[in-house]
Amino acid sequence: MTAILSDETTRDTTARPHYRMFIGGEWVDATEHYDIVDPATEEVVATAAKGGVEHVDLAVAAAKRAFESGEWRTTPPARRADVLDEVVAIIGGRVDELTRLGTVENGAPLRLSAALSVGFPLTHIQYFADLLRKYEWQRPGPVAGQVLHASFTRREPLGVCAAIVPWNFPLVLAVWKAVPAIAAGNSVVIKVDEKTPIGTLEIAKILGEAGLPDGVLNVVTGDGPTVGAHLVAHPDVRKVSFTGSTATGREVMRLASGTIKRLTLELGGKGPNIVLDDADLDVAVDGSLYAFLLHAGQSCESGTRLLLPDSLHDEFVQRLVARARTLRVGDPLDPATDIGPVMSAVQRDRILGYIERGRQEGASVVLGGGSPSGPEYAKGFWVEPTLFTGVTNDMCIAREEIFGPVLSILRYGSVDEAVAIANDTEYGLSAGVWSRDVGRALEVAERLEAGSVWINDWHNLSQYMPFGGYKQSGSGRELGPDALDAYTEEKAITIDLSGSLDRRAYGLVLGTSPEVAEG
Ligand code: NAI
Ligand code: MG
Repeated sequence: MTAILSDETTRDTTARPHYRMFIGGEWVDATEHYDIVDPATEEVVATAAKGGVEHVDLAVAAAKRAFESGEWRTTPPARRADVLDEVVAIIGGRVDELTRLGTVENGAPLRLSAALSVGFPLTHIQYFADLLRKYEWQRPGPVAGQVLHASFTRREPLGVCAAIVPWNFPLVLAVWKAVPAIAAGNSVVIKVDEKTPIGTLEIAKILGEAGLPDGVLNVVTGDGPTVGAHLVAHPDVRKVSFTGSTATGREVMRLASGTIKRLTLELGGKGPNIVLDDADLDVAVDGSLYAFLLHAGQSCESGTRLLLPDSLHDEFVQRLVARARTLRVGDPLDPATDIGPVMSAVQRDRILGYIERGRQEGASVVLGGGSPSGPEYAKGFWVEPTLFTGVTNDMCIAREEIFGPVLSILRYGSVDEAVAIANDTEYGLSAGVWSRDVGRALEVAERLEAGSVWINDWHNLSQYMPFGGYKQSGSGRELGPDALDAYTEEKAITIDLSGSLDRRAYGLVLGTSPEVAEG
């Protein structure tokens, strides 16, 4: 078995670690391998197994066996929660190492990586453990009724659940899917993105160390359209949780329809960010930059359409540009860095293509607009923070998810107009409002078609709050107090207490009911 150790994953290493898949408690290799590339340097920092559909079949079979054995699902919930507590403790002992791994894997700057690879996983897993401790597995229904009976509902795990996660927040998103599923007693197969398997494999290892039985969690690495699609369509998979693009989400929905699987989908976004004319400009300028620049804009819930009132437009843009110029784009392992690289050459070229498109559509670049120049950017995948003014909501840069550090700035006259522009999108994941008058901001917030609305803030994803999209941004919610419901079925059990079949509908059919005799 290949050891997965921190010192193997630093950039200084000469011997590259090789990561295998985790199936049925074993580390399983494939004949073909992926290169894992550090997006800041283009160096191959590790290799990983390139799994095939046969590995999906193995993983689903292992998950099904584990579920049917009942070992985990019949473990008392409080004891299952203890295992999750242990996971939290182990993560807490590996803070620096996991943070660094996250940065090397997808270019998130260290300060952000500390949240993504440690802070969020740790607090979210702790929250799921707490939810599990107080989860209402059974609820009483009414007793009596016309024919004396008692009833109750019972929550049960679904069976084998599939999780498909992307590369932008691989570890956090794997946790959001796999941990509530496991907490509820299910078995899970995660298909990670082929570019970012490392953090998720670490978590799988940690769960094993904490006492999760073999086969309850399995991780397969492989291509989306083949291996991912095979997992989604697998007849033994009862539920699919997917985060990624809306286009792939649509395909996942189609593939899942064959066996009517339960679905949770977290898809794309084009978050409208409305600055009201009474906003605190110091807070709103910084907040609007934060809204679209976190992780170089590679976040589904970014604020990528900035809506400014005519009265503030010029001053606000000027201040945005001045402030954005102070941000440091560079080595994500340097704690002073604000913005790191984008994930890959494919993503960089896609973003640059959108910037070109914006110019062609007649919008003006007032900051950035390309790849930064200089020796420190000779290697790696870089895009400058880019601001477009003169954007109208029909332009492609206002309608499509760019997934890079690109902001489209639109102007509005009235608040009604701002709300109409904000809602004129196929997406509905996030939105924001900035105002000194919270009552006024709330009125706007209530009119926005989005799963999360932040007032005078952005990216505040709390474990206590549900997260998910309206419209084509997805279906279902993750996190929040109902997170375990998404991984359980609800069964209604009704018990007759009358001891008689009289006075029932089928009594009428059989002709035994007094009503029939009288009637
Ligand atoms: P994607 O949506 O194609 O990939 C996400 C995950 O789905 C990956 O693990 C991938 O291997 C898997 N996948 C791909 N095709 C599949 C299929 N037919 N069946 C099952 N699984 C499949 O996203 P991609 O190609 O990495 O990025 C393209 C664009 O998607 C980005 O530029 C961005 O706009 C958007 N995106 C949005 C994300 C979000 O959080 N909303 C995350 C990642 C990408
Ligand atoms: Mg794709």
